Amino acid sequence: MIIIGCSGGKHLAGKIAKKLKCPYSLLKVKKYPDGELNLRLMSNVKGKEVVLVQSFYGDVNECLVEAIFAAETANELGAKKVILVAPYLAYLRKDIRYGPGECINRNAITNIISRYFDRVLVIDPHIRKGVKISSLFSIKAVEINADKLIADYIKKNIKNPLVVGPDKGSLNMAKGISNMAKCNYAIFEKTRISGWEVKTKARKKVDLKGRNIIFVDDIISTGNTILECVKNMKKMGAKRFYCVVVHGIFIENALEKLRKANVKVVTTNTIPNKVSKIDISGLIAERI
Ligand code: R5P
Repeated sequence: MIIIGCSGGKHLAGKIAKKLKCPYSLLKVKKYPDGELNLRLMSNVKGKEVVLVQSFYGDVNECLVEAIFAAETANELGAKKVILVAPYLAYLRKDIRYGPGECINRNAITNIISRYFDRVLVIDPHIRKGVKISSLFSIKAVEINADKLIADYIKKNIKNPLVVGPDKGSLNMAKGISNMAKCNYAIFEKTRISGWEVKTKARKKVDLKGRNIIFVDDIISTGNTILECVKNMKKMGAKRFYCVVVHGIFIENALEKLRKANVKVVTTNTIPNKVSKIDISGLIAERI
């Protein structure tokens, strides 16, 4: 087996390989003046199981082209199997055709990956409750859940926690993490107005006395979901806020906005950033 780090997986490939005691290399990526990519596998892959690590952040479209071209090359050069480890897999959120002819992104991405890879591993994919990741791909697909790592972080670092899920979709996550961290949880209701704007309200009254509020969620993108909940909870008397999430995308200065609202944010390192302190390489190595 060989682990290969694509541009979005460089920060994890070495760690995963070390844990599995197997070799690793990086995908060499150059760009032509017209923007086309020139990719090169730096190790012999003939007869090997090739694990491509690619997290989809920054230019997600380029991440996709890289992963597909690298898989195509590995297959052409005689790899025995090509496995995609996508700590954060983009394009899963839009699973509805809102208008005639519109692309259902989730179907497009899962069908494309199924064509080029033999197996796929994803950390906390953003799919609807009740949908199994294995039903979306025609290859073997494994979902890895980071809740235990988040609960461990809370137990070690935050006293008197109240775990809060910002919407109904986060109910299982909040419930599971609060169980493991041995504390209570509360859930907000969220109405999404656009990709940027949301409205939230608490589902019932919660006792906030002396509590450190810890929002848990799978993704922070614009940060507006958490900022809205913070605004509401401040009105309810809460004072100290933390936010522990799996994928920190942080577009448009989201991290800075959260810092200004006095929210201490921590994420896993599915996407590397200033606050990605929870390492998920061990979880991935175990499942590989
Ligand atoms: C939505 O269902 C997700 O779990 C997150 O709550 C959402 O993606 C966060 O997005 P944003 O940070 O842009 O509000």
